[in-house]
Amino acid sequence: MDDLKAKYLGLIAEAANEAALEDLRVQAVGKKGEISLKMRELGKMTPEERQVAGPALNALKDEINSALAAKKAALADAALDERLRSEWLDVTLPSRGRRAGTLHPISQVSEEVTAIFAELGFSVAEGPRIDTDWYNFDALNIPSHHPARAEMDTFYMHRAEGDNRPPHVLRTHTSPVQIRSMEKMGAPIRIICPGGVYRADYDQTHTPMFHQVEGLAIDTDISMANLKWVLEEFVKAFFEVDDVELRFRASHFPFTEPSAEVDIRCSWEDGTLKVGEGDDWLEILGSGMVHPKVLEAGGIDPAVYQGFAFGMGIDRIAMLKYGIPDLRAFFDSDLRWLRHYGFSALDMPTLHGGLSR
Ligand code: PHE
Repeated sequence: MDDLKAKYLGLIAEAANEAALEDLRVQAVGKKGEISLKMRELGKMTPEERQVAGPALNALKDEINSALAAKKAALADAALDERLRSEWLDVTLPSRGRRAGTLHPISQVSEEVTAIFAELGFSVAEGPRIDTDWYNFDALNIPSHHPARAEMDTFYMHRAEGDNRPPHVLRTHTSPVQIRSMEKMGAPIRIICPGGVYRADYDQTHTPMFHQVEGLAIDTDISMANLKWVLEEFVKAFFEVDDVELRFRASHFPFTEPSAEVDIRCSWEDGTLKVGEGDDWLEILGSGMVHPKVLEAGGIDPAVYQGFAFGMGIDRIAMLKYGIPDLRAFFDSDLRWLRHYGFSALDMPTLHGGLSR
């Protein structure tokens, strides 16, 4: 018994961490531990032997248990000391300025758009930025020979020779999410999809990556009138004014019939943009009634359902609302620009709390 005591007290003193300590506990006083086994032998002893061995074993067990507990507390203390050492903080250092970073206007405007459409019953859908040319084109009624493919200045993903996977593109618009959402949710459906899109184009109002928000509403009784109302409600809420003049221009998209492009009245005087006044018009979106072939590609019966879709330029409406003259500055990562045009991360836009403070 003295040997056992010496052995375990020694081992416990040396245990490096709680796991090692637990191993020792099991080894000594666990169900099949060395001391527990010894206690089982008590039954085979004579009553006289047992009277001596029993209390001695119990005392040994108690001693080992309290050595374990003491060591455990000591290890915890040491761990705490180590943490206090490593997480030491000099509270006398000066604090950082409050506006170290800001929300980018595109993030802000995406949140604003989402808040407005949420109020109109639209939920947010998402899709991949790298998509197959089937989702980006074919399913949207743009077959491979169609001129719209060339017009879009598409970035194609490189394919090694012998790679037979379907061709992938950087999506040129958010419209492929129409198909993905129809496949996933069926009809009726009411979604928007904000996100980045890509086209090989670069000047004051075009960048190779920009942002759109797609809208899609499908049901048994949806018409162009619903589209017009939704867009007018949106534009008024977004620009936080009672009246904004919109111009619906007949247009053409392979995936809508009829189609309309929508412009907003604005002025560009002195390098600043103003909405709702002036003699200029800025195109902000394309829209129309979803083409029956597109519904079919999404697995929806065009004999029962119809609906509208639109694709709006987020960067465009951000420029308009916040008077930002050059689109390219959005992507320059210039901190001075961000401090000027950015937003506080703590002000979530809501319709009741105010969209832009
Ligand atoms: N996808 C079109 C574009 O990028 C916009 C659009 C979306 C038009 C939905 C009609 C309907 O220009």
